Amino acid sequence: MQVRSAVIPAAGLGTRFLPATKAVPKELFPIGDQPAIQVVIDEALGAGIDHVVIVSSRSKPAVAEYFERDDALLAALEEKGKIETADRLRAIGRDWRVSIVYQDDPKGLGHAVGCARSTVGDEPFAVMLPDEMMATAGLLAQMNGVCASTGGSVVAVAEVPRHAVSSYGVIDPIGPMSDDGVVEVRDLVEKPAIDEAPSNLIITGRYVLTADAWDEIDALEPGRGGELQLTDALRAQARRAPFHAVLAESGRYDTGNPLGFLTASIQLGLVNPELGDDLRAFLRNLEL
Ligand code: G1P
Repeated sequence: MQVRSAVIPAAGLGTRFLPATKAVPKELFPIGDQPAIQVVIDEALGAGIDHVVIVSSRSKPAVAEYFERDDALLAALEEKGKIETADRLRAIGRDWRVSIVYQDDPKGLGHAVGCARSTVGDEPFAVMLPDEMMATAGLLAQMNGVCASTGGSVVAVAEVPRHAVSSYGVIDPIGPMSDDGVVEVRDLVEKPAIDEAPSNLIITGRYVLTADAWDEIDALEPGRGGELQLTDALRAQARRAPFHAVLAESGRYDTGNPLGFLTASIQLGLVNPELGDDLRAFLRNLEL
């Protein structure tokens, strides 16, 4: 079954980007001429998803405003002959649906995702953490296929040096990875100590989860850091059902900090058909 909905947790205060996030939510920072959240949504659409559920905070009304139709702006653009730009604005939410739900009490990632339960309903769904961007929709599409063929949940993973594992969720794989980067998962641990980590394969920001994850999320007790951890809900799933990880190979950008955001902007700019050539020429001429 094709996953239809993607949950995008986006209620954070963006403290790592202050003072920029004092007035502008980081989900709306530009990557070229797109807000960052649109880049994540485009990845979802590319994987066949047509419903995006954004978990936002009422302190960030600009996120919802981005999705609202603005007739005065459309009329002004058309009057100036900027038909293509007007068409691009009309396409926001036209062939896909956006729902905004609110998490006003930041109790952790598990809680944030749980806020989307009634909007998504009783079916498999994706979770996309917008602090990571992927160059293509291929990974999410592959994860969807693995979920459909195994009937179990799937997380994306990346290999990191051992010393870095404690900042992430870590999987305990069963055996080696297949040639196409798929491995079965025995267990998942949120931010383990280095010497207790079951591997150096960390959970990156893409998940395709079966509907029974909702009950596990609702039943969560505070875990690492006193927060309701999504990883703990997945751990419960992995104990009783098939659970797989898919390796996110190349083209993964960590946009959760200012340097990462800057480098992702450059890398995504380089593959942008309208900006790429000029940006490449500019970078070549830089005296570094
Ligand atoms: C969250 C998850 C963690 C995952 C990480 C990926 O952690 O809890 O399992 O590895 O995202 O970015 P956070 O970055 O919110 O602390």
